[in-house]
Amino acid sequence: MTLPVAMRLMNERAPADALGRRLSDLRISVIDRCNFRCPYCMPADQYAHDHAFLRARERLSFDEIERLARIFADLGVRKLRLTGGEPLLRRDLSELVARLAAIDGVEDLALTSNGALLPRHAQALRDAGLRRITLSLDSLDPDIYRRMAGGRGEVGQVLDAIEAAERTGFGTLKINCVVLRGVNEDGVPELAGHFRGSGHVLRFIEYMDVGTLNGWRADRVVPGAELRARIHARWPLEPLPRRALSETASRWRYADGKGELGFVDSVSAPFCGNCTRARLSADGKLYTCLFARNGHDLRGPLRAGESDEALRARIAGLWSLRGDRYSERRAELRAAGVVEHVEMFKIGG
Ligand code: GTP
Ligand code: 5AD
Ligand code: SF4
Ligand code: SF4
Repeated sequence: MTLPVAMRLMNERAPADALGRRLSDLRISVIDRCNFRCPYCMPADQYAHDHAFLRARERLSFDEIERLARIFADLGVRKLRLTGGEPLLRRDLSELVARLAAIDGVEDLALTSNGALLPRHAQALRDAGLRRITLSLDSLDPDIYRRMAGGRGEVGQVLDAIEAAERTGFGTLKINCVVLRGVNEDGVPELAGHFRGSGHVLRFIEYMDVGTLNGWRADRVVPGAELRARIHARWPLEPLPRRALSETASRWRYADGKGELGFVDSVSAPFCGNCTRARLSADGKLYTCLFARNGHDLRGPLRAGESDEALRARIAGLWSLRGDRYSERRAELRAAGVVEHVEMFKIGG
């Protein structure tokens, strides 16, 4: 599954979009449901109780996901990430992992999860060929954690998930923390202290205006630079070079050698210029941006019997037209009233 570094950094075969960005990652949402209700993603009070989640037949089957993933890999995709909602709510996910891990050209297969269900699935996922896991953990304080998970999760579950992943041999984990001004920001040094020296990479993510439900306000965003300064004052930090141009997080290390931290400064320092990520929703729509309003239906043609070749051409054509760079244009687009975005839980971040 491992390819030489040169290939990882640049795949000349992959189609380029209108801004010259080559398709290289596919994030696959396997389900639009979640067992949490994080206020920045799926706030319980905004979220319509009669909301219709996808029914099983509306979701892509494993056969369909595998087929599309092969076509994307053929087009040059090297990285796959499984997301949700909460991907571990999809039954037999490890079966899908095994199929995706076997695809030629796929050199990286990862999962983003809230962790609540990980202990019972970690071994099967590992055996199936999953190599990397990212978990969300917004606070170590039980009350603040619960608030950030919309009252549905307990911090102990994530700590158990981390232990289970360690026991199963997942090695370095990425731990995502979305920071909300006035809610969990004061817990940032405690989180940093907890993961210093653990071998895991804690990443702070700026609160984004994804979806339509989270009531985003710019004054709720805590800029990554501010968090870096706070942590640096206690434990000096040094910048590390990016591993790949398309990486979302800037990398920092503790000067005393106690490990690495990441910052996804998607509001204060957008990274659209190197964005090579495509997203597939659980119902088979291709989204070319996290902030897109609509996706392009692939399930219809797939179920109508379109050939691999025609699907490949269709996807390459859609990618070649892509001009998205929402985060770089946020102020201008919001001022113009462009605030209709696909919900985060439908395309998994
Ligand atoms: P690696 O595969 O390890 O590089 O991880 P990743 O950073 O691609 O994946 P992860 O799901 O951990 O992404 C971290 C967070 O960054 C996501 O949950 C989103 O909040 C944010 N993010 C990821 N991709 C994008 C993107 O293309 N645009 C914006 N604005 N934010 C993104
Ligand atoms: N802003 C920033 N990150 C978000 N995530 C979900 N909603 C938002 C938002 N509004 C992140 C979660 C998780 C991943 C699935 O997406 O923290 O790590
Ligand atoms: Fe929270 Fe992730 Fe679920 Fe959204 S999909 S509510 S961010 S756990
Ligand atoms: Fe990519 Fe859109 Fe995020 Fe910019 S805003 S980095 S184009 S997904």
